[in-house]
Amino acid sequence: MRHPRVDAIADEARAAIARAGSSAELEQLRVRYLGRQGALTLLLRSLGTLPEKERPLVGAAANEVKRELEALLELKLTQRREAERRQERARQRLDLTLPGRRPPLGSCHPLTRVQDEIIAIFVGLGFSVAEGPEIESDYFNFEALNIPKDHPARDMQDTFYLSEDTLLRTHTSPVQIRTMQSQRPPVRIICPGRVYRRDADITHSPMFHQVEGLAVDRQVSMADLKGTLELFAREMFGPRSRIRFRPSFFPFTEPSAEVDVLCFLCGGSGCRVCKDGWLEILGSGMVHPQVLGNVGYDPEEVTGWAFGMGIERIAMLKYGVDDIRLFFENDLRFLRQFA
Ligand code: DAH
Repeated sequence: MRHPRVDAIADEARAAIARAGSSAELEQLRVRYLGRQGALTLLLRSLGTLPEKERPLVGAAANEVKRELEALLELKLTQRREAERRQERARQRLDLTLPGRRPPLGSCHPLTRVQDEIIAIFVGLGFSVAEGPEIESDYFNFEALNIPKDHPARDMQDTFYLSEDTLLRTHTSPVQIRTMQSQRPPVRIICPGRVYRRDADITHSPMFHQVEGLAVDRQVSMADLKGTLELFAREMFGPRSRIRFRPSFFPFTEPSAEVDVLCFLCGGSGCRVCKDGWLEILGSGMVHPQVLGNVGYDPEEVTGWAFGMGIERIAMLKYGVDDIRLFFENDLRFLRQFA
């Protein structure tokens, strides 16, 4: 069944459907021809206005074209949608063969590393780790360590005072006192921690780290101190390390000694870093009888030795770092060298 008006709409619709490039366009065409205001719909609705004998003809032809267009649109839409889904999948496809991105890994800070190494050496010798507060009282930081108020040794350490009686500890030695107060001999402890002094240049930082060592028992001697530190130096700086003791003074030890390690850069012949072949690494001595008495130990019965060393100094020597500030700036280019 054919009719020129219906044919005109049908030809135009078929051509438009053939040209349509997307499912969205096909949807628009469905609306344009078959929708409620669509060309074919309007034609069917206006059948009543046609001359009576034309009505069945136009009606039949229009219905036939309507079914045809519906089927055609349905087919095209299904094909188009499938093609569009394929394109979308291709666009979003994951390439599972691409290499992964590694999350950047941090590394241990050189000071932590040196501190852990020192601790491990002494723990291996039977020492245990003790800690104390960074905000300390004048008594533990000075008084109990045989440094009375008017003692010139207080000038050696520029102290950050928080009040007349409280301060930021200037060394880890107060942990000696706290430990001995709470425990009977034998005592073998190693105390790492932060300390504070009003001092800042390329080898001094207002906050830095120390490790304190303390051994108290019956018949502990300077020879024990020397043997222990010799072993420490070999573990820390290599099997051929040598140390020497130089007489010194600390109010809390008698006798006192500063300990140098043979320069591992030049082997002792003297270089830019060591000058005379030796590098100072710590202060030490036999615990002063007065200090033992202050914590209620009997100096006639027990003796002890102690030492204190700066972790930054050890790390600077070991890694050849010539500016202490590098440890605290945390520039990744610096830190990565210790990964
Ligand atoms: N407390 C000293 C300082 O900060 C270091 C020190 C020296 C600690 C001798 C000791 C010691 O235990 O026996 O300079």
